[in-house]
Amino acid sequence: MSKRPSPRASGAKDKPPRTPPRPRRDAADPAPKAGVTLESLRISDFGSAGDFGAQAHYEDPNFYGQAYRQRRHDIDYYVRAARDANGPVLEYGVGNGRIALHVARAGVEITGVDLSRPMLDDFKHKLANEPPSVRRRVTLHHGDMRELELERRFALVTVPFNAFLHLYTRRDVEAFLARARAHLLPTGTLLFDFSIPSPADLVRDPELRFPSNPLRDPETGEEVAYAERFEYDPLRQLLLVRIELTAPDGSGLRTMPLTHRQFFPREMEALLHYNGFEQIFFTADFTDLPLDRHVDSIVVRARPKSAGDRA
Ligand SMILES: C[S@@+](CC[C@H](N)C(=O)[O-])C[C@H]1O[C@@H](n2cnc3c(N)ncnc32)[C@H](O)[C@@H]1O
Repeated sequence: MSKRPSPRASGAKDKPPRTPPRPRRDAADPAPKAGVTLESLRISDFGSAGDFGAQAHYEDPNFYGQAYRQRRHDIDYYVRAARDANGPVLEYGVGNGRIALHVARAGVEITGVDLSRPMLDDFKHKLANEPPSVRRRVTLHHGDMRELELERRFALVTVPFNAFLHLYTRRDVEAFLARARAHLLPTGTLLFDFSIPSPADLVRDPELRFPSNPLRDPETGEEVAYAERFEYDPLRQLLLVRIELTAPDGSGLRTMPLTHRQFFPREMEALLHYNGFEQIFFTADFTDLPLDRHVDSIVVRARPKSAGDRA
């Protein structure tokens, strides 16, 4: 069995959202097709950065917080990296501060960028309960990681927990890497992690449900069945994970789509190499050990090429 911790909401899923997250339709969304419901969406309905395949999973920060409650190893890793950076940190896809809050508590100044207002609001809510010294270390911006210009450079730029997988096209990746480079000090480091594509997930029948441990709603005590369906588009390398929450008798279906671009390791290396990065190192699962065949999350470190090298 793979030791891969699902990038999705498996694991510590002990509090489901009480209501289905509502897809938000921002400017980047594909036009909704007549008669299409959330349950009937297919992978062909997704694939624009910022569309609801990139947002629905983050509409309910309470669900997010509970789902990934036990994910700690990456927090410790990013906090260590932030301390070692000896300078301010920029986190893209900062979400509700699952990592950034700990970075700030560790005494490091951090700027966060995210497209999800609910996640940022949740982070602000958490910050309100922190001492002023921690609050002062955090600056948050609502915006798209492909576009936002902060006119500031950082010692460390991070993109934790598969946020990079919301860059669906080469154009998205290149726009983002240009922003990351522009925000890095010449001696700075880009640090991020991404799930390696799992061959089994890519060939699953989209009609099949893969149940996982049920959830329990802590407020009502009700059990909620949890399952995932997978649909892969091998041409665009996009994986749609449909998270389905139902009552034990199968009623009250709530569907949460999550779309991830699947990057193969050497493809990722090439993207970084041809977009102004060098000294590109891949390590396994927040251990700083070399990759092996069992790796789940590839941790990437890279440095911006100097202007002379890029010419
Ligand atoms: C898996 S979460 C990671 C959140 C946080 N870093 C953590 O480790 O818990 C991915 C985050 O990326 C954000 N995101 C997705 N597309 C984005 C974009 N184009 N620009 C900025 N943020 C984006 C989502 O809103 C979400 O908060």
